Amino acid sequence: MQIIASIADLRAALKSRGRIAFAPTMGNLHQGHVSLMAQARGFGDTVVASIFVNRLQFGPSEDFDKYPRTFQADCAKLEAAGVDILFAPTETDLYPEPQEYAVEPPAIQNLLEGEFRPGHFRGVATVVLKLFNCVQPQVGIFGKKDYQQLMVIRNMTRQLALPIDIVGGETVRAADGLALSSRNGYLSPAERAEAPRLYRELNAIRDAVRQGESDFAGLERAAAADLDAHGWKTDYVAVRQQSNLLAPHATDIPLVVLAASRLGSTRLIDNLEI
Ligand code: PAJ
Repeated sequence: MQIIASIADLRAALKSRGRIAFAPTMGNLHQGHVSLMAQARGFGDTVVASIFVNRLQFGPSEDFDKYPRTFQADCAKLEAAGVDILFAPTETDLYPEPQEYAVEPPAIQNLLEGEFRPGHFRGVATVVLKLFNCVQPQVGIFGKKDYQQLMVIRNMTRQLALPIDIVGGETVRAADGLALSSRNGYLSPAERAEAPRLYRELNAIRDAVRQGESDFAGLERAAAADLDAHGWKTDYVAVRQQSNLLAPHATDIPLVVLAASRLGSTRLIDNLEI
């Protein structure tokens, strides 16, 4: 695996490389990231991963400084996953001057995650477009774990006519159901034991909806109350349309239930298609 930091070196290395499949990350890699790399293999002749902790997508009181950075271990995992090129720019490589031009996503950026993380999707869309311009992949692979992020990137790619197919990878979970996340490492042993409740609540809502329950607001309230009764601080539990993440107007359309809740100081998100 070649490890490259500068945009110029990356461009040189990617000349005449055939079809490129690209999976961007912020590092501290786990099996969820590795599964994206394995899928990338199926879509390209050359698999490119990136590791870059993108300051633009963190709020002022968020965990940018303490975000786990485990570069050596990450390289070993990417190498084992068959990644050909790792693009790992420093901040000055990717942002040599203040990044003043940005991608401003439409109203979807203010829903759900966006309500609690203002500016987050602007930062994500901006760095992903820039990474796309550096790597110029034919395929981009993103996890469904970050469902709204996947939608923002799909919509951006379509609306800006980027010649890139966006592929969504299924969420990889621990045996007890907890979605793998770099932020799980912040959990104390007691919090880690409690954490799978989030996925159980999503499953309970999915089962209820499948059995004909249509009082979505009632289901959302009950799940949030149950989480909070077990020490969580819930930002949202929301049943939404898969196509646009707006509140559903009918029950016979593809739905997804999404949630974000805090255990101690760790904010966890998860979702489940119904
Ligand atoms: P990061 O949180 O490192 O995630 C990188 C990719 O891995 C994303 O596409 C994410 O959805 C996916 N992923 C995370 N956990 C997963 C899991 N348990 N199962 C499957 N896929 C999973 O998302 C970002 O970084 C950043 O916002 C980024 C897109 C790199 C832009 O900075």
